Amino acid sequence: MHSNLMLRHKVVKLIRGYLEDVHGFIEIETPILSRSTPEGARDYLVPSRVQPGTFYALPQSPQLFKQMLMVSAFDKYYQIARCFRDEDLRADRQPEFTQLDMELAFTPLEDMLRLNENLIRWIFQEIKGIQLPNPFPRLTYAEAMSRYGSDKPDLRFDLELKDVSNVFSESTFKVFTDVLASGGIVKALCIPAGAQRYSNTALKKGDIYNETVKSGAKGLPFLKVLDNGEIEGVPALASSLDPINKELLLRQCSARAGDLILFSVGPHTSVNKTLDRLRVFIAQDLGLIDNSAHSIIWITDFPMFEWNNSEQRLEALHHPFTAPNPEDMNDLSTARALAYDMVYNGVEIGGGSLRIYKREVQEKVLQIVGITPKQAEEKFGYLLEALDMGAPPHGGIAYGLDRLVMLLTGTNSIRDVIAFPKTTAAQCALTRTPSEVDPQQLKDLSLSTQ
Ligand code: AMO
Repeated sequence: MHSNLMLRHKVVKLIRGYLEDVHGFIEIETPILSRSTPEGARDYLVPSRVQPGTFYALPQSPQLFKQMLMVSAFDKYYQIARCFRDEDLRADRQPEFTQLDMELAFTPLEDMLRLNENLIRWIFQEIKGIQLPNPFPRLTYAEAMSRYGSDKPDLRFDLELKDVSNVFSESTFKVFTDVLASGGIVKALCIPAGAQRYSNTALKKGDIYNETVKSGAKGLPFLKVLDNGEIEGVPALASSLDPINKELLLRQCSARAGDLILFSVGPHTSVNKTLDRLRVFIAQDLGLIDNSAHSIIWITDFPMFEWNNSEQRLEALHHPFTAPNPEDMNDLSTARALAYDMVYNGVEIGGGSLRIYKREVQEKVLQIVGITPKQAEEKFGYLLEALDMGAPPHGGIAYGLDRLVMLLTGTNSIRDVIAFPKTTAAQCALTRTPSEVDPQQLKDLSLSTQ
């Protein structure tokens, strides 16, 4: 723990040196007692004593403050910023965490990516003596989802997903054809030499089956390619394939004798979710991950919006201040965003975008995510007004500093690189907070716990 915190300090020092001394950034602190920003998580709220019944929100990120700084002519801002998100905790998520947050004006997308690649390359070189590729490879969101089922794929191993819907379009296997008829897809994951490794029993009730169920899928259809080139597996599935379709399937999956083909079927999102989970599980299980390799990539061209089924509305995939691709202005609801994520070994370490800097576009985007003009004025009136004043084109990025340091130290939880982290129940084990408070304090705040 001691050496992890020493390393963390060294990383921050390198960041400051690079941004300030090489590029002329300045650090500006932004408020902690703040207003809710739509980053997608629940807010931590702080009650106001002097204005009973009102609350501050702790910042989920300094997003809007940094954009206001751009309008105020600080054209290279950064901050080592504490952020707060009340969300379910995982190994790479804490309720309070630290971002390296930055924003630049008048910087085209290519320059933004280049500056950030150089920063990360410099850190890996200085801390680990590792040379990352130059430039970083890129994948569009659509390509990443299609080939890996994830917008943060780990490319240290292959295992690509294949859309094999065409093979089953006229199949007699009803489980697949019914889904295809209702607009779903069939995707396959071929595991070289997997036929022996995973017994039929394991595929029907072992760990690999359990992983599938945890992803939300109802079952795990599979086929094995035998030494004589025949296929066996789920009987109705195997017998549904005539020789031509069998050939087509094997060719599309590049499957050979001894391979195992796993299928997922359903709507795009759930199919990708299942196969992404299986892809990572199998790579770990079969020891396919080369631990000396480094997979660093940009994911670009995210869609602006995704459909939120439970709320029956479109929501911003990043946040609603992200600029749409100018080529897609005709239909904003399906537009690609000028957004980018940096992904290292399957972990999203940073994400950002060029921003909307015109009021009309911002108003339209807020409307698409279901914010009425009145609500927009109430919540973001100051931003809209600032955009009216001739805001410069601007954009930026934020890294999860804890995640970056976690990966550099080789630990698997950000708790190992944070002094006094919270437990999975969002508790501080040292101070035993959150805790009850004196009734008088509640009274002062006009609050009651009943
Ligand atoms: P985003 O929400 O993608 O973007 O967050 C940026 C990065 O912060 C890290 N991160 C976290 N780390 C630990 N615990 C958490 N709970 C947690 N949540 C996020 C991730 C992530 O990539 N305002 C935008 C940035 C921008 O557009 O400039 C933002 O906050 O590594």
